[in-house]
Amino acid sequence: MNALPKRFFISAAIFALIGMVWGIVMSASADHSMSPAHGHLNLIGFVAMAVFGTYYALTPQAAETRLAQIHFAVSLIAVMVIVPGIALAIAQGQEVLAKLGSVLSLAAMAIFALTVFRHGVGTQHAQRG
Ligand code: HEM
Repeated sequence: MNALPKRFFISAAIFALIGMVWGIVMSASADHSMSPAHGHLNLIGFVAMAVFGTYYALTPQAAETRLAQIHFAVSLIAVMVIVPGIALAIAQGQEVLAKLGSVLSLAAMAIFALTVFRHGVGTQHAQRG
């Protein structure tokens, strides 16, 4: 199997582990102020990355493209920018990183939409536009 689905899943699992520990720390400290950052880490970092990985495992012809490598890089950087960005926005009111991260997250999803449009889902779509 192409290495790309594995890279998405490893990233997803690492983000989930960090996000869940963060959730336990929030619960234990009764300080839920970082809840939106935790939510985005789990939803974009874990759920979206795992969905992307699943897609590329099901659709190997899409995983072999240069755009798929770019998709992984943009998705990874998006999580690593938007999560601290949201935390910074909450803690200090500085929104620059959160805004940049949101644009990167949107770009990752746009690449995903384009890829699904181009390659379909599954190997049976390999020969279709
Ligand atoms: C060990 C596992 C987890 C713990 C202990 C935990 C804990 C928490 C806590 C304490 C809150 C704040 C609730 C509040 O103030 O109302 C929260 C919010 C949230 N969590 Fe988790 N969480 C965990 C895993 C997850 C996972 C796996 C996801 C998603 C896949 C997730 C998504 C969210 C979302 C979306 C919010 C609400 C964010 C917001 O509206 O600000 N959490 N979580």
